[in-house]
Amino acid sequence: MLDYKQLIASKIKAPLSTAELMSLITETSDDSFGDYAFPCFKLAKLMRMSPVAIAEKLAADIELDDHIVNVQAVNGYLNFFVNRLELTCEVISDVFASHGEYGNSDMGSGKTVCIDYSSVNICKSFHIGHLSTTAIGSALYKIYGALGYKVVGINHLGDYGTQFGKMIVAFKLWSDRETAEREGVKELQRVYVKFHQEEAEHPELTEQAREWFARIEKGDLEAQELFEFFKKVTLAEVMKIYDRLNVKFDSWNGESFFNDKMDAPLKMLRDKGLITESQGAQVVELGNYGMPPCLLVKSDGSSLYATRDIAAAIWRKEEYDFDKCLYVVAYQQNLHFKQVFKVLELAGFDWAKDLVHVAFGMVSLEDGAMSTRKGNVVLLKDVIDKAVAKAGEIIAEKNPDLAEKDKVAEQVGVGAVLFSALESSRIKDIVFNYDRVLNFDGETSPYLQYTCARCNSILEKAGDWLSSKSVGDYRALDNPETLRLVKLVGSFPQAVKDAAFKYEPSIISALLIDIAQAFNRFYIEHRVLSDNMAEQIARLQVVKATADVLKRGLSLLGIEAPDKM
Ligand code: ARG
Repeated sequence: MLDYKQLIASKIKAPLSTAELMSLITETSDDSFGDYAFPCFKLAKLMRMSPVAIAEKLAADIELDDHIVNVQAVNGYLNFFVNRLELTCEVISDVFASHGEYGNSDMGSGKTVCIDYSSVNICKSFHIGHLSTTAIGSALYKIYGALGYKVVGINHLGDYGTQFGKMIVAFKLWSDRETAEREGVKELQRVYVKFHQEEAEHPELTEQAREWFARIEKGDLEAQELFEFFKKVTLAEVMKIYDRLNVKFDSWNGESFFNDKMDAPLKMLRDKGLITESQGAQVVELGNYGMPPCLLVKSDGSSLYATRDIAAAIWRKEEYDFDKCLYVVAYQQNLHFKQVFKVLELAGFDWAKDLVHVAFGMVSLEDGAMSTRKGNVVLLKDVIDKAVAKAGEIIAEKNPDLAEKDKVAEQVGVGAVLFSALESSRIKDIVFNYDRVLNFDGETSPYLQYTCARCNSILEKAGDWLSSKSVGDYRALDNPETLRLVKLVGSFPQAVKDAAFKYEPSIISALLIDIAQAFNRFYIEHRVLSDNMAEQIARLQVVKATADVLKRGLSLLGIEAPDKM
């Protein structure tokens, strides 16, 4: 598509560089003021004139052409009018030429982005607290992929820690493989909670747990086998959720993978004089940077979460040579990542600047938050199941004859859950409410899916128009509703880039909602199917472009768009 900002910048005869001019040009929000605006306020000092006078002077010097057809000086702004029909046709043909992958680019070719997301903990249930990391990480995975980056999705499993010693003791005392295989993580959680209850009265349990943990560390066969069993039970459950959410990983190297990879980094930090002893423990002092010390080795010689993350970052750099490594983890771990990144920077790794903590807020259900320790967790599976069931009820009511109702209910329910974590700026806390996320008329994913299905049904009613030889009469598109819709569609590629570089999939979500709303307004105002074939074809192209972009946008968010709803 024509780069209108660049073209406009080349026409403004002001003492600023093209790049500076381009950065000042904005799209207008009101079509009656043109399509692009250039504010003259910054020029006042440079040109020693009032913005109003500057705008008038510059306007007089603008050379109009076939693309930029009018310019007006209004209150210190230059308002440019583009050839709107040309713009409309360009957007439509760009969408069609991309064959369902509008917004894709090869800008990332040759570059690698690692994304650490979801990163579940073995023996712990997959609860609503994991929704955001999974949804945001997976969306970023798809978004960077669309921009041509090589993406490595990493599930940094929480598979190391003294709790596994306790797990083994509890499991041997109160459970067995058959029950655990049947009941899953719930059973592992049950005995784990019981361990903590019994521990107070039976202090010998603590000692046994310590012994078992030591056996895990030594690679003792029975301990290893039990741990592998716990891992299998946990992942079997988690995989089912990932399949439903369409989430994929390329690496499952978690904390325990780094068991034998911490000595070298620790030695290096010691050699560089960064490590100091503090009450028997080894730490990196970060007081100069306004942070508490980063604890790396406990007084009993064991390593910590941070030690593993430092080893993991170094390993990932060596293995993948990433341009960026993202950590999609809740803001509760802000300090942890700041410390880890700072230690790596102090160690002299210039790539420490490429590590990014993509933080997000908390998710809770309207009926109160959850706490893992007490065991009253809200399972993600239950939330998805309930959303799917409710979606099924709504569909049965709205469209009782729909084919493949169950499949559509799954797509709508899963979409609603994912979208709840992707709809607003990620740092915001989310309070989840079933009725709100499933409202077909709200700013929700069912609304987007429904609008997309509506487009499909219009296209289907029109029959085989794509192969028709008639040419569209694009004058039928020369109206404010169509222009607004087409402009929003045309801004999709930029939104994909912004979403990637701000690590903010909600930029895409918000645009899709705007597109769907603009489409519905367009559809109210303009009859698509009519007796005038040429006009109909032009409008059908707008409908098809809208459907393509909604579907593409949803797929980047990990959400499927059913053909019919
Ligand atoms: N398993 C951790 C948790 O549930 C998240 C791990 C995030 N990734 C990392 N490299 N620290 O809190």
